[in-house]
Amino acid sequence: MTARSALPGSHAPTLDLGGRTALVTGAAGGIGRACALRLAAAGAKVRAVDRDAAGLEALAEQGRDLAGTVEAHVLDLTDLDDAERAAAGTDVLVNNAGLQLVCPIEEFPPDVFHTVLTVMLEAPFRLIRGALPHMYGQGWGRIVNVSSVHGLRASAYKSAYVAAKHGLEGLSKTAALEGAPHGVTSNCVNPAYVRTPLVEKQLADQARAHDIPEERVLAEVLLQDSALKRLIEPEEVAEAVAYLCGPHASFVTGTSLVLDGGWTAH
Ligand SMILES: NC(=O)c1ccc[n+]([C@@H]2O[C@H](COP(=O)([O-])OP(=O)(O)OC[C@H]3O[C@@H](n4cnc5c(N)ncnc54)[C@H](O)[C@@H]3O)[C@@H](O)[C@H]2O)c1
Repeated sequence: MTARSALPGSHAPTLDLGGRTALVTGAAGGIGRACALRLAAAGAKVRAVDRDAAGLEALAEQGRDLAGTVEAHVLDLTDLDDAERAAAGTDVLVNNAGLQLVCPIEEFPPDVFHTVLTVMLEAPFRLIRGALPHMYGQGWGRIVNVSSVHGLRASAYKSAYVAAKHGLEGLSKTAALEGAPHGVTSNCVNPAYVRTPLVEKQLADQARAHDIPEERVLAEVLLQDSALKRLIEPEEVAEAVAYLCGPHASFVTGTSLVLDGGWTAH
């Protein structure tokens, strides 16, 4: 038998990202904001990326007294060259930015399909591409891709989103295989419905697509397949992201950490 684990102590050590730079996309919004604050609380220097300048400003203010720092970086991820450049020098990359349109395929606007795929699949590819040289150079890196239960299951009327998330799962696994010899892990986290603006904004679209009143959408559409009948909070997702960046997850790569209240147990 080889030497025992080099982990510090038998209990979960506190996540310490002091001296590490973390880039979080979509950081002005629900899950991204929670991830940025969680990683900054662990001491990281967080580069918070979003196209929403006001949201980033509010985040930077909120992160003022944490162990690490939160630095706002206003960027539209459809500018793929800028996205790749922004990722240079990061130790931890959280690909989180996303958008949603609920609409049947035959009515789905092709330009929106293209934008969803650009922001949620092509931009993560370019960000990973930009981050890897530094990660490989130092022999350590953590890539966490915020996928979804929709990276593993489809739902009607979400063609672009489901296609992007299934693609992200494949990208994440490929990055895991290529990164392993260089000390770089790549994983997905896969929440079911999270209490964020992205979900609030789709209630009306879901009502229209399913032809039911908006007040029935939560119980009859969003939580229908979940054994646990509640939304998950952004902070719970951020904690899963933090785990994947911590010392006890160094052997976890190429996988998907599912936080779906039992949805995929069906
Ligand atoms: N909310 C949910 O129920 C849920 C469930 C599973 C997975 N997710 C995933 O979690 C991630 C975050 O979702 P959320 O619910 O926090 O959404 P949100 O709408 O609250 O935040 C998304 C953020 O992405 C940013 N963004 C969108 N397009 C951008 C672009 N072109 N350039 C830069 N920034 C851009 C938005 O400005 C926003 O701040 C997404 O990838 C989403 O698919 C969400």
